[in-house]
Amino acid sequence: MKEKIQVISAQAKLEITNADSVKILTDLKVKYLGKSGMVTELLKGMRDLPKEERPNAGKLVNDLRAEIEGFFAEKESVLKEIELQKTLETEAIDITLPGKTNKLGALHPITLIKNELIDAFTGMGFEIFEGPEIEEDYYNFKMLNIPEDHPARDMQDTFYVNDNILLRTQTSAGQVRVMLDKKPPIKILSPGKVYRSDDDASHSPIFHQMEGLVVDKGITLCDLKGTLDEFCKIMFGKDAKTRLRPSYFPFTEPSVEVDVSCSECHGKGCKLCKGTGWIEILGAGIVNKKVLEGCGIDSEVYSGYAFGMGIERIAILKYKIPDIRLFYENDLRFLKQFK
Ligand code: PHE
Repeated sequence: MKEKIQVISAQAKLEITNADSVKILTDLKVKYLGKSGMVTELLKGMRDLPKEERPNAGKLVNDLRAEIEGFFAEKESVLKEIELQKTLETEAIDITLPGKTNKLGALHPITLIKNELIDAFTGMGFEIFEGPEIEEDYYNFKMLNIPEDHPARDMQDTFYVNDNILLRTQTSAGQVRVMLDKKPPIKILSPGKVYRSDDDASHSPIFHQMEGLVVDKGITLCDLKGTLDEFCKIMFGKDAKTRLRPSYFPFTEPSVEVDVSCSECHGKGCKLCKGTGWIEILGAGIVNKKVLEGCGIDSEVYSGYAFGMGIERIAILKYKIPDIRLFYENDLRFLKQFK
């Protein structure tokens, strides 16, 4: 019995000392101290001993048990320490490393300018109206005094869906919708996408316009000029000036092209304004009586003005952008500059 115990003790000591993981140690615990482990087996074997030997043998086995438990306790604390060190090493945080930042999105420059325009005009009492992008010929052309086969249709290369339906070429289509729907006084601003079959450095098949329409008693070209003067000051600075040049649109009579003084050279003439000191920013005019009458508004009582500007054009001027296509490529290096 004594020898057996010594052998087990030596074996346990060796195996426990060599165990290098908690898993191996747990297995060893089962092997020695488990329900049918070696020490437990010894205890069970006591039954076969003569009665007088039992107390002594019992003490020996209990001592062995205590001894082995001691081996385990010692090894366990060593292994725990090692494992703690390992986790400390692998989970170490280097607080000198730069943090991971979340990339924040930002508004597109067209949206920024659109919002600025909306702010400027709503500040002057305009209300927003948004018409459909897929539009009927009726609103986009016919009711704007551009009948079928009229040469003015060539001013805008149109994407047709079928004979009657098209992608609107101008936000002016919204004018008709508003006038058919509302009695004067009318004072609306209509921003949105428009489509034309055009594609080069200054034209895109899809671009944005902002339409303005005011109909009331006694509206004249002076009201238009005053409103646009104020708008240009808000948009381009206090000393911005405007001038009107005669032009032609079928739905306004008289029609004008509106220029703003060049913000780069302040009128002296430079590359941006092609030496003229002025930059064209929009088309406008007094709403053609035919258009008013077509929408059921008495042109003897009411008159109105309308204007339409390209949002890209304003953004190009304000941010000095060389190519309209930059707006649609969504290159982050470009977009980041407008944060
Ligand atoms: N719709 C015209 C265009 O797209 C601009 C315009 C709007 C002109 C309103 C006069 C009045 O060119």
